[in-house]
Amino acid sequence: MSPGLIRVGCTLVAAWALSAVTGYVLAAEKQAVTYENTIKKIIAERCSGCHGAGAPTLAEFDKDKDGWKKKSKGPRLDPYANLVVLVNGSDAGAIMRRLDDGKNAKDGKPGNMHVWLGGSDAERAQHLALFKKWVGNWSLKRRKDLSEAELRKITAPEK
Ligand code: HEC
Repeated sequence: MSPGLIRVGCTLVAAWALSAVTGYVLAAEKQAVTYENTIKKIIAERCSGCHGAGAPTLAEFDKDKDGWKKKSKGPRLDPYANLVVLVNGSDAGAIMRRLDDGKNAKDGKPGNMHVWLGGSDAERAQHLALFKKWVGNWSLKRRKDLSEAELRKITAPEK
């Protein structure tokens, strides 16, 4: 093969590789954060020790909060149906109030579950950003204070 042809060949391969990489990066950026692709794993790794198997449903938890607290158990955060109750259901905003880093709170204090988001400041910030993206409308308001329009903006998709 002539040096000229080899050069053209190399250029084509390089161009193809570059477009494949940019295509991949763009696709990853566009991909929405969902329960299935991101949130489920964070909860399994960071929260399920106290909110997974063996933890009460929200209804059971609400009946005997002090009893469950003593056992270091909070309401179940899986599967998806149990989790969204605390995002945009009857206890809307609970996830946001507990996980917030304090920047959205009047008193500047982080929610008491923020600390569990990660083993370092960087990991906590990274996981919080993913939760925020997933929730869509990061509001610390309680269900009764959320307007219908605000509630609709809380997306928290499953898939
Ligand atoms: C070491 C145990 C433990 C870990 C780990 C933990 N939690 Fe909790 N969580 C609790 C307990 C106990 C309660 C109930 C007491 C309270 O309200 O603070 C609770 C309460 C909550 C509540 C409020 C529930 C309600 O209806 O009042 C939310 C939301 C929550 N946790 C989210 C999380 C998330 C998300 C994670 C992981 C990032 C997490 N927690 C990690 C023990 C834990």
